[in-house]
Amino acid sequence: MRRKVIAGNWKMNMLPNEAIDFVNALAPLVKDSKNEVIICVPFTDLFYTLLTVQDTNIHVGAQNMHWKENGAYTGEVSADMLKCINVEYVIIGHSERRQYFNETDETVNLKVKQSLAKGLKPIVCVGESLEEKEAGKTIEVITSQISKALDGLTLDDLSNTIVAYEPIWAIGTGKTATADDANDSIKAIRNEIKSKFGTDDISILYGGSVKAENAKELFTMSDIDGGLVGGASLKADSFSKIVNFDK
Ligand code: PGA
Repeated sequence: MRRKVIAGNWKMNMLPNEAIDFVNALAPLVKDSKNEVIICVPFTDLFYTLLTVQDTNIHVGAQNMHWKENGAYTGEVSADMLKCINVEYVIIGHSERRQYFNETDETVNLKVKQSLAKGLKPIVCVGESLEEKEAGKTIEVITSQISKALDGLTLDDLSNTIVAYEPIWAIGTGKTATADDANDSIKAIRNEIKSKFGTDDISILYGGSVKAENAKELFTMSDIDGGLVGGASLKADSFSKIVNFDK
């Protein structure tokens, strides 16, 4: 369902005590927001974070999972493991996972399907590299990635899915896509989803150096439904300003 969503991606940052302090600081700052607030935290913070968000409007996600049910996959975490402690969301296919941990369109698709089968809601990431952008391949790359990532999903699955467009060259670099460029890319993703499923009733977020200063310009574009925020999601104060972009 299309709605405004602001999701934080803490990456490999924050210890459990810091996660608890963060939630306690953030909750009063965002309690009146109509936008959906999600924080995607490291595995070791999940349990503490979930306990601390009770009675708030903050939702919690993981940053990765394996697509297999269980078995000899040392170091991996399954969808059931996340679901049984009440994790609601899971980021799938972040460019750092694709780049450093060999995730492919195929494994991304397996993870997306498994997350949905287990009742988790995936936040599916796509985005082009600088090289691809400079070669004029942005739209080709991202429409192909989204088509493969969502392959085999039902309409019901789609209604439980969020997409994030994150140009790789904009992540953690301080370089943000212009609001017009981000909107054009997201429009292309939306059209691809519409041609595949007959509907584009899905939230598509922008990610890549989102901060309090640029959130409003980006999130009020016609096709952008909010953001996936890395660096600026690590402080309750800056993250709350992004959540409250419309205040
Ligand atoms: P950034 O990261 O906001 O620090 O650029 C975004 C992301 O990787 O999700």
